Amino acid sequence: MIVTFAHHKGGTGKTTSCLNIAGFLHESGKRVLVIDCDPQANATSGLGVDPCSDQLSMYDVFMSYAGDFPDVGLADIITETKSGIFLASSSLDLVGAEPYLYTIDNRAAILKDVITEIGDAYDHILIDTPPSMGQFVLNGLVAADRVVVTFDSGIFALKGGAEALSAIMDDVETYTGEKVVADVAVLTRWGQTPVIPVPDEGFGARLKQLFFGTPESGDNGEEKGRLAAFENDVKRSFEMVYTIPFDTNVQKAQENGIPLPQFAPECEAACVYREIAEQLNSQ
Ligand SMILES: Nc1ncnc2c1ncn2[C@@H]1O[C@H](COP(=O)(O)OP(=O)(O)O)[C@@H](O)[C@H]1O
Ligand SMILES: [Mg+2]
Repeated sequence: MIVTFAHHKGGTGKTTSCLNIAGFLHESGKRVLVIDCDPQANATSGLGVDPCSDQLSMYDVFMSYAGDFPDVGLADIITETKSGIFLASSSLDLVGAEPYLYTIDNRAAILKDVITEIGDAYDHILIDTPPSMGQFVLNGLVAADRVVVTFDSGIFALKGGAEALSAIMDDVETYTGEKVVADVAVLTRWGQTPVIPVPDEGFGARLKQLFFGTPESGDNGEEKGRLAAFENDVKRSFEMVYTIPFDTNVQKAQENGIPLPQFAPECEAACVYREIAEQLNSQ
């Protein structure tokens, strides 16, 4: 099964969800490959691999399709990480491949194409994408059997998410002629009180208003109500909705280059990620 993690904004929990679901799928005895399609390479470093080293990466795979570059397939760049999860790494160079992709006719289906070449070598392939609406996220969506959309519970991240997402899905439909349905939603960092490091008066307040709109209420009870309403909204649009609580183990595991099942298998966030992996395994 090919699962793509997507949302056009950064910090919504794509990489975190990708790595931890990969971790639990691996723990259940499956062969799991993570493909890092984000030039920020957080999935690569989150699996303990240095994205700055000069190893072959997704940059080389995408560039194989552009002009006279050496022929590098997905199988050529895959390495096993210390967690036992396999990785097709990203590197900061990847950002330089995107302009070349616009010169290729079948550019949205490159990833689907290279995955076909590796056949059935993996039980699950999880694709992490960048926070953008560019070619890499499009490639991830075109290749996907399932799309997981992550939403940050931070109060300002809730606005506009669904609209932008349906615009991306329309793009995918244009490319593939098929309707793509994002069926799994993961609400991340639930329960974290948003930290707003901007004063409530003066220039800072006006800036905040410009970017985020007028806060409807600073009251914590009402804020919780709004979050609950959002959760309900998401539940109407997605077949499956999971809510991951804010959990400090998440960041610590990433810093150690291993996913939650090997770092803090019983922490609150781990329990929900285990449930998602079980659900994916059962399909
Ligand atoms: N449930 C959680 N609890 C605590 N921190 C989290 C949780 N989920 C994500 N984070 C942290 O939030 C930040 C952004 O998450 P990340 O997965 O990198 O987002 P994205 O890939 O969408 O940009 C990271 O520092 C990550 O460690
Ligand atoms: Mg990320």
